[in-house]
Amino acid sequence: MSVPPPRPAPGAALTAALEAAADRAVLAPSVHNTQPWRLVLHGDRLELHADRSRQLTVLDPRGRALAQSVGAALLNARAAVAAAGFAAAVDRLPDRDDPDLLAVLRPGPGPADASLARLDAAVPLRHTNRRRFGEERVPDELLRVLVEAADAEDTLLVPVDRPDHLDLLGRLQRTADGIQNADPAYRAELRRWTTRSADQGDGVPPEAVAHVDGRQHDALPLRDFDTTGSGGLPARTGSGTAQTVVLLAGRTDDLLAWLRAGEALERVLLELTTRGWVAAPMTQAVEVPLTRTQLRSALVWHGHPLNLLRVGRAAPTPTTPRRRRDDAVRGSGRPPAPLRHPPVPGATGWVPPVR
Ligand SMILES: Cc1cc2nc3c(=O)[nH]c(=O)nc-3n(C[C@H](O)[C@H](O)[C@H](O)COP(=O)(O)O)c2cc1C
Repeated sequence: MSVPPPRPAPGAALTAALEAAADRAVLAPSVHNTQPWRLVLHGDRLELHADRSRQLTVLDPRGRALAQSVGAALLNARAAVAAAGFAAAVDRLPDRDDPDLLAVLRPGPGPADASLARLDAAVPLRHTNRRRFGEERVPDELLRVLVEAADAEDTLLVPVDRPDHLDLLGRLQRTADGIQNADPAYRAELRRWTTRSADQGDGVPPEAVAHVDGRQHDALPLRDFDTTGSGGLPARTGSGTAQTVVLLAGRTDDLLAWLRAGEALERVLLELTTRGWVAAPMTQAVEVPLTRTQLRSALVWHGHPLNLLRVGRAAPTPTTPRRRRDDAVRGSGRPPAPLRHPPVPGATGWVPPVR
């Protein structure tokens, strides 16, 4: 007769759940892979702080993208705690005197959130995919799942599917891309986060971005991360009005809404990953004030645009690095060890037809 493994004592199970929450949090997407978070483990809770030293002051002066990145990390931590069998209480912006303490997550008794627990396994499989997408569009029933996932995080998700809206979005994205690239400070900031050394464990590496050869004329231009001309992915991304695009918008335009939008972003991305779909934010049009205002009045007058995602099917993509765990996580009971983000295959082995 086999003997079941000993059940961990409640305190040990709680500690393990919190450590797992930190492990998962640091795998979240973040703008330019800045990983702008500082995680602090206590015996009964995980604190998620904004690390303002990692804020993109040119692209993101208000901190909208920073807060979304921390929100995505929070969603991963919530999924890990649920997968460990715990309910969780989340306090967002709990301390008026410390606005950079964005959230506190406390596992506790009660039923775990099954809809979050089931997303936990997708966390290490989710990667921003900047390849050419196949022609399959996201079916309406899956779009409804995405709308509900965002709604669960108090965020609006608006599919951009009318041809005139897609044309407008294309114009705004091209305008925003042009405005940003005309600014030497924007380009310098981008260069800084695309030329990181391996031991820094952050930034967007050449392997994960399309090679840019000056002949790209995408209707919906992706951000040009190929600042060194060594982008490892094929130059043609085919980003255009035939692909599925969704807009995420906050109900208000403040720190809490930005944090919630990050939770929604990650929840949507994980729902897609579990079903073998891939996605990539392409957020130039929501970053530039002029185009953001136009986007709002045309597409989501009842909300505040915060993120734009292209969604599709594509071959797996190389992964991005992460910082050493002890650089991002304080108060851990684990000995410091480099956190390697192993190159895992993408969520799908589906390969788009070669054109
Ligand atoms: C708020 C936000 C905005 C982003 N904007 C873009 C973008 O405009 N273009 C892009 O290719 N990736 C964008 N990303 C994706 C990040 O570059 C990506 O998450 C980061 O490099 C880490 O890689 P990973 O998502 O594969 O883990 C964005 C991510 C976040 C959270």
